[in-house]
Amino acid sequence: MIIAIDGPAGSGKSTVAKLIAKRLNYRYIDTGAMYRAVAWIAQKKGLDLTDESAMADIAGSLNIEFVPGPDRQAVLVDGKDATDFLKSETVGRGAATVAAQKFVREVLVAQQRHIGETGNVVMDGRDIGTVVFPHADKKFFFVADAEERGRRRYEELKDKNPGLDLKTIIEEIRQRDHEDRNRKISPLVKANDALEVDTTRFSIEEVTDHVFKNINNL
Ligand code: C5P
Repeated sequence: MIIAIDGPAGSGKSTVAKLIAKRLNYRYIDTGAMYRAVAWIAQKKGLDLTDESAMADIAGSLNIEFVPGPDRQAVLVDGKDATDFLKSETVGRGAATVAAQKFVREVLVAQQRHIGETGNVVMDGRDIGTVVFPHADKKFFFVADAEERGRRRYEELKDKNPGLDLKTIIEEIRQRDHEDRNRKISPLVKANDALEVDTTRFSIEEVTDHVFKNINNL
């Protein structure tokens, strides 16, 4: 069984995907973390993120592991816990830049298919139901108002970033939406057979129950 959850930043897809994976005892694969990891490595090396061949090299040698834990899933890059570093908006913006590049996408999509091919996986991203696994057993497309998505991101990041400004976060989310929806390769778009879930006014528990019931045809 492959469950695909796509949607824009802050729509709640990764939180719900994690909970669904836990309930089903499936693996949860955060494909955004893979694009983020490429951007993060490049930023640390001071590379130009628009240098497509350098970004493709990083993607090709990416060593990323998803390690489930009791409270959170850790993302290891080259064996080191990079979970918190990968969450920053700077890395998120960088991820959107590298994610628009053909070779980076080819390499990461191949890795995602390889990870998912044994099944029993919940995978979230932007193109899981359209490109990575167009024949996924269940597909969801999460949406939510940009203000609400910005607020959620703000709540998530504010403790570790004291100077964070909500308006800036909302602006960054809008900018990233624009880039993801308008890029030439694999733009963010709902698969025809995906169920759209608007999470704006619902709690995490409500959305998780809704998705869980749909998976089980309840
Ligand atoms: O979901 P997350 O915010 O971690 O994704 C970071 C960026 O990676 C997105 O804005 C998008 O540009 C890119 N991405 C993608 N395809 C995916 C997952 C993420 O293009 N499957």
